[in-house]
Amino acid sequence: MKILITGASSGIGEALARLYATKENELILLARREDRLLQIKSELQNAKNVEIFTVDVCEFDELREKIKSLDNIDMVILNAGMSLGHSLEITPFEDFKKLYDINFISNHAILEVLLPRFKAQKSGKIVFISSLASLISMPTSVAYSSSKRAMNAYAEGIRYKYKKYGIKVINILPGFIKSEMTDKNSFKMPFLLDTDKGAKIIYDAIGKEKRFYPFPFRFYLIIRFLNLLPQFLRDKIVNSLK
Ligand SMILES: NC(=O)c1ccc[n+]([C@@H]2O[C@H](COP(=O)([O-])OP(=O)(O)OC[C@H]3O[C@@H](n4cnc5c(N)ncnc54)[C@H](OP(=O)(O)O)[C@@H]3O)[C@@H](O)[C@H]2O)c1
Repeated sequence: MKILITGASSGIGEALARLYATKENELILLARREDRLLQIKSELQNAKNVEIFTVDVCEFDELREKIKSLDNIDMVILNAGMSLGHSLEITPFEDFKKLYDINFISNHAILEVLLPRFKAQKSGKIVFISSLASLISMPTSVAYSSSKRAMNAYAEGIRYKYKKYGIKVINILPGFIKSEMTDKNSFKMPFLLDTDKGAKIIYDAIGKEKRFYPFPFRFYLIIRFLNLLPQFLRDKIVNSLK
């Protein structure tokens, strides 16, 4: 398989790259930090081939040109993402826009190129790395939660739209996984998974072509339960958590 992984220079993306580094797979690893990508590439000796793409996904024109230069992609893992931490202050517009550009809009820049190709070849897997945070919007992470909820809606729509062309759309919604992103959190993260364990769960869910895969399951059940409560009660509980 030829697999493009965005956000492959650390955390979940890097751990997924290690899992997919087998003699059957060609990997294209995309992120901004070239030194990290080169280091990871040098360690992935088992892969059939590893190419690195050093690009900021917010540079949409450059991003699209890089994606256009690729051929015969079988799977894309849309993993690049950021968070702004947790704050009750209003998010400055520029930060909000940057987060949306990275977490959401850049995926469309990539898929605008790849979807017609997948459609023509009548195959292709698109993996979104959303978040359990998309299912409940905490007052301290409005931008992040809403960007991931937008991703869910997008993933759902293209899944319906492209099913008849043999395109598989897989939406993964992890809870907390140890990474550079979560290392910045100062609060106790419930059900925190280590990076390799979290990535392996994602890898297995992709292998099983799960359309919508929230985990850890107990954390997901708690959120589902909260979402079933009457709004006034949910408001009370969520506000008591902030
Ligand atoms: N960790 C969690 O608990 C958790 C839970 C749910 C969902 N997620 C999602 O999982 C994904 C990976 O996050 P992570 O936890 O593994 O965090 P991470 O270690 O900070 O990884 C983020 C990756 O995204 C890349 N990236 C960020 N901004 C970019 C940009 N402008 N252009 C290109 N690449 C960019 C980073 O590479 P460079 O800095 O080198 O560009 C890095 O490789 C994110 O989408 C995140 O929202 C994480």
